[in-house]
Amino acid sequence: MLYLDNAATSFPKPESVYQALDKFARTSLANPGRAGHAMAVAAERTIDDARHTLNQFFRGESPDRWIFTLNCTDALNMAIKGTVNPGDHVITSDLEHNSVSRPLCALEKAGTITLTRIASHGGYLDPEDVRKALTPKTKLVALTHASNVLGTVQPIDAIGTIVREAGALFLVDAAQSVGVVPIDLKASSIDFLAFPGHKALYGPTGTGVLYVGRRTKLRAWREGGTGGDSSSETQPTQYPYFLEGGTPNVLGIAGLAAGLAWVNAQGPDNLRRHEVALLAKVVEWVESTEGWSVAGKWDPDTHVGALSLIVPEPLTPQELGGILDSSFGIAIRPGLHCSPYIHKRLGTFPDGTLRLSPSPFTTVADIDAFIGALAEITAGVI
Ligand SMILES: Cc1ncc(COP(=O)(O)O)c(C=O)c1O
Repeated sequence: MLYLDNAATSFPKPESVYQALDKFARTSLANPGRAGHAMAVAAERTIDDARHTLNQFFRGESPDRWIFTLNCTDALNMAIKGTVNPGDHVITSDLEHNSVSRPLCALEKAGTITLTRIASHGGYLDPEDVRKALTPKTKLVALTHASNVLGTVQPIDAIGTIVREAGALFLVDAAQSVGVVPIDLKASSIDFLAFPGHKALYGPTGTGVLYVGRRTKLRAWREGGTGGDSSSETQPTQYPYFLEGGTPNVLGIAGLAAGLAWVNAQGPDNLRRHEVALLAKVVEWVESTEGWSVAGKWDPDTHVGALSLIVPEPLTPQELGGILDSSFGIAIRPGLHCSPYIHKRLGTFPDGTLRLSPSPFTTVADIDAFIGALAEITAGVI
């Protein structure tokens, strides 16, 4: 199988992640913080160490502001629904994944918030459009760092400055940028940073993270056991426990920590450059082949390792994805990629595009095989 669907979840994981998962599952898989015995303490230490590593890697305010979640969707819902109040205004964009768009749309339909969805241009947001959309009632600006459909990286530093000046909160969905685009929380104006552990941080599925800056004021997300002071009738207000009721996915977090260590050793920018160089080969082929085109602007300097291709008629992305899978053993993602608004803007709704997303483990020979398969399928059809 040639796996080119790393924007959905990464495969394979680095060897060190498999080893960490195996070791942790065999030696330390107790319930962290729930008892004083050695295994529970070892499990708790793994989680604490992971929070410290995250805080160092992204230069956050302190380790206790890092909340472990089920996935990126969970983190985004926690930030959005925990923050807004009736009458608030929220700004978002047409690049968003449904994990941002749907909670906001539900809040808008319920009459809780008013919503402005700014338009991207060739896959990029203009910070000035954010400035124009701000109102005195704007509580939250929720934007993706990199489009999961187009791979385009957004100017979040410039946008963050504008949002901070206006006194609103800035939520960044880093699902497609984490691990490949450096994020420095001290140098930027990000209040919430949400990301999955299972994409370019190479943890297993079932892992996600929400960073919560100190300017925020959240409602508890779920209430329950935290292992600490059980005599209290209500959720402890102390972070991270305030947002982490129930047994955490400590095995997943052990894998995520190993993945983060691997990314740190490789250097995010090196990983991004490898993936973008592979995509550049595909872009070259597309530009020299009739009928095909790349969705959005292609700028290798502001791109992560996801690329959407507009397929030539009469083929559909779904047909092509099916043939690539069944006849060539190539795993790729056709369709809307949970991001309908950008497809409407691009004119690729409802069939969508064919998205490929290589990883650090993808080789030039793999990309040649992918291009060869596309050429073979389309020969004689278009
Ligand atoms: C930009 C973006 N945001 C959010 C998500 C949701 O991530 P998860 O599946 O971890 O909830 C994805 C997943 O593909 C994504 O690409």
